[in-house]
Amino acid sequence: MKVFTPIHEVLDGEHDGESIYLRGWVHRIRKQKNMVFVILRDPSGVVQAVIKEGNVSQKEYDAAQSMLIESLITIHGSAKADERAPEGYEIQVNSLEVLHYAEEFPLTENLSIELLNDYRHLWMRSRKLTNALKVRDEVFRAAREYLRQKGFYETTSPMFVSTIGEEGAELFEVDYFGEKIYLTQTSQMHLEPQLFAMEKVFTLAPSFRGEKSRTRKHLTEFWHLEAEEAWCDHECNINRQEELITHICHSVAKNRLSELEELDISPDRLLDIQTPFDRITYSEAIEMCQKEGLDIEWGDDLRTEAESVLTDDRKNFLFVEFYPKEIKSFYMKHNEEDPRTYKNNDLLAPEGYAEIIGGSQREDDVNKLLENLKRIGDDPEKYKWYIDIRRYGSVIHSGFGVGIDRLITWMLKLDHIRDVVPFPRTVSRIYP
Ligand code: 4AD
Ligand code: MG
Repeated sequence: MKVFTPIHEVLDGEHDGESIYLRGWVHRIRKQKNMVFVILRDPSGVVQAVIKEGNVSQKEYDAAQSMLIESLITIHGSAKADERAPEGYEIQVNSLEVLHYAEEFPLTENLSIELLNDYRHLWMRSRKLTNALKVRDEVFRAAREYLRQKGFYETTSPMFVSTIGEEGAELFEVDYFGEKIYLTQTSQMHLEPQLFAMEKVFTLAPSFRGEKSRTRKHLTEFWHLEAEEAWCDHECNINRQEELITHICHSVAKNRLSELEELDISPDRLLDIQTPFDRITYSEAIEMCQKEGLDIEWGDDLRTEAESVLTDDRKNFLFVEFYPKEIKSFYMKHNEEDPRTYKNNDLLAPEGYAEIIGGSQREDDVNKLLENLKRIGDDPEKYKWYIDIRRYGSVIHSGFGVGIDRLITWMLKLDHIRDVVPFPRTVSRIYP
């Protein structure tokens, strides 16, 4: 039986001088009279293979001359270190088989971003998208690893919901057998009841927001890592978030080194992330923005410009704590030290890459929760099930939600959030 070697093993010098089998897709091809140069690609990397007339059978040579990029092939040959080869290694081919002759590939150099995204199903074979998706895989793995180590159970929450979790305006309505319901904006509300069964719970699932804003950081369907923890106050919640983010960053630096290198990202960018993260209050943030000349007042939300003032020059994440009640959600814990505010936090990514976490201690006092609902004018009857959990053994608890796609966008210094998702959903794109 043929054993196929992953290309990265060749590039790592593990097969110098050996005869090996490789398989994959023709990434690039250059045809000369007596020679065909193929850049062969598998998920682990690309390597140059040289097919010389006379070194392979005439039938195989003719096949090599007639194939187009993205054809699927297997080759047998010897691996040699070669400084002239683009990746430092070259395969001298002594036999090959074309398993599938590709048609003319529609993606060429210098296509517009729009067109590339129309061909997302093909474009994801590019090294840029492949590497970004492999980093994404490690982020998912490391997040689960950290939370499991800390005793969290992974669970699920429904995507169809009848109550509103965050801001009403961004809801996607669904016709559910004649009843108006929504796609969930957050799994938080259905995670909280579960901590009375399991104490520490998390879910990694999509959240849906009818974001009309065409920005670099908004998807209509994004991946949300949400955790809820019993016996955990605001301080404990801050600590949980910074440990989690640090663990994810260090894991990616360690386990996706070659992908980072190919994407031109230094692993130090991620290894420099260290706990404790800096913390400022919302009130301090407003003062800092005012000093920089922004037209902003206490009570306003911190938008892109403000985030930029606060984080452009930073290399590490920044917590902003204790936001005004008016701009945050009703389920957050009242802050006795500054009654205008809740015990909440956002976590801002370095270099103006925006908010990646929203978190808070949750209001565990049933009367305060009812007051909050009254203040925002919502009907407590709809939230009966959510209020109920404060009636039977209410426990101090906190939680947070990480925007996974935003975190990876920062990690890889990408211009747009869509490039970390296989099939991004935005206000202007639902195809393919
Ligand atoms: O700040 P948000 O709205 O908080 C919540 O939904 C809480 N219920 C979470 C919780 O405590 N369990 O959203 C959390 C994070 C944001 O900080 C952001 O990173 C991300 O989700 N996010 C988006 N990411 C991409 N596209 C969008 N449209 C996003 N909206 C929020
Ligand atoms: Mg938020």
